[in-house]
Amino acid sequence: MSNSKKLRVGVAGLGTVGAGLLKLFADENGRLNEKLELVAVSARNRGRQRGVNIERYQWFDDPVELAANPEIDVLVELIGGSDGPAKRAVETALERGAHVVTANKALVAVHGTKLAEVSERTGGKLLFEAAVGGGVPMVKALKESLAGCRASAVAGILNGTCNYILTEMEQTGRSFEDVLADAQRLGYAEADPTTDVGGFDAAHKLTILSAIAFGARPDYDHVRIEGIDRVSLTDIRLAGKLGYRIKLIAKGALEGGAVSMHVSPALLGFDHPLANVGGSLNALVADADPVGQLTFIGRGAGEGPTASSVASDLIDLAEGRGGHAFGRPLAQLAAAPRAAPAEYGRFYMRLMVQDKPGVVAAVSDRLAHENISIESFLQMPGHEGPAVPIVLTTQSCARASLEAAVAAIERLDVVAEPPYVMPIEESGHRARTWSKG
Ligand SMILES: NC(=O)c1ccc[n+]([C@@H]2O[C@H](COP(=O)([O-])OP(=O)(O)OC[C@H]3O[C@@H](n4cnc5c(N)ncnc54)[C@H](OP(=O)(O)O)[C@@H]3O)[C@@H](O)[C@H]2O)c1
Repeated sequence: MSNSKKLRVGVAGLGTVGAGLLKLFADENGRLNEKLELVAVSARNRGRQRGVNIERYQWFDDPVELAANPEIDVLVELIGGSDGPAKRAVETALERGAHVVTANKALVAVHGTKLAEVSERTGGKLLFEAAVGGGVPMVKALKESLAGCRASAVAGILNGTCNYILTEMEQTGRSFEDVLADAQRLGYAEADPTTDVGGFDAAHKLTILSAIAFGARPDYDHVRIEGIDRVSLTDIRLAGKLGYRIKLIAKGALEGGAVSMHVSPALLGFDHPLANVGGSLNALVADADPVGQLTFIGRGAGEGPTASSVASDLIDLAEGRGGHAFGRPLAQLAAAPRAAPAEYGRFYMRLMVQDKPGVVAAVSDRLAHENISIESFLQMPGHEGPAVPIVLTTQSCARASLEAAVAAIERLDVVAEPPYVMPIEESGHRARTWSKG
């Protein structure tokens, strides 16, 4: 590693976040330049206009070559993707003991354990504050500020695109497809929106937060993932009438030494701390003992907010902080047993049924057969068409019983399409006694 007083930085990836970081380096009065020096950059297209001057930095066509250069003390990886050049560049830097700062949640969620192993072996630190929550310091909060606590649950709105779409649907009465098309036109959503609306991006972030919060190895394959593409305007309106708002919730919980992780649309009472987080904002609610419940809200993406989190990791490195990638040495990270998400709870169900006498009785009967009590029931007034929507919420019941009832309801002749079920999130999560799995 270079002996120069300042840490020498190479940035691979000069898109939204990379250009944002270069603008922070260009601010002569910013703290970045006090202890760090940006010396080299890499991207695909050298001639592309980026709103920042890159002439004064050494250029690399290949990010892996940049990562391998012994003049670079810190590689900042802002390319993206769980594999390919991003992974090769990060591995190359860590293998030679250089530090890495990345915003790449897919890479850290999928290959986090292996990268942390290399980091521990070589002494090159791996920091990724910007990978979760953009400008909101969620990683550091769990890793550092809550280091003295035992976390029992983390629940967040971790994908701004989904939150924007659901908020717009509620506020403007437009359909999912309409709002998504607009968001794509305005650049708020990717041309291929699957990673966002399918819940995968939130699952990457949840994997990282759960690993840090619960002291477990990151385990992306274990997240149960459901996106927002089946949420209809009818759901949003009727849930609203019942006193709920629909959000894409990423939730991890530790119970009896086992970790459960799921991403799914859920109903939140208006008094839930995440219910009023609107638009593209991100938020996290952490339950930890003995501190209690903490909430973090802010801008979860975009050039400035995300670059500011990258900058804070760089300053940590320059000042000798940073610690272990997931907050503890790998040997102390449990390969925690997996648990299914919330086996008990209240649920919302939307049914499309023929408008005939006896339908409600038939549905109630199938629920009663599984010992499930209905808490509230609502029919969409003035709905036209061969099938009408009815929605109901259950009292607390076992998920397995609900699934059995749903299968029976689906077989009824009067039911036009498979019932759509979402969990209802309670506003408080009681901190439970922690035991290492
Ligand atoms: N955008 C956000 O708000 C945000 C928020 C949080 C985290 N992140 C994460 O930050 C990372 C970067 O996101 P971004 O939005 O800045 O992406 P982006 O705008 O698409 O930029 C990607 C950059 O990587 C470069 N690149 C792509 N393939 C390359 C290759 N094979 N070799 C060298 N360079 C290559 C591109 O080069 P060219 O410019 O020459 O094409 C571009 O500069 C991702 O991991 C993302 O998930 C982004």
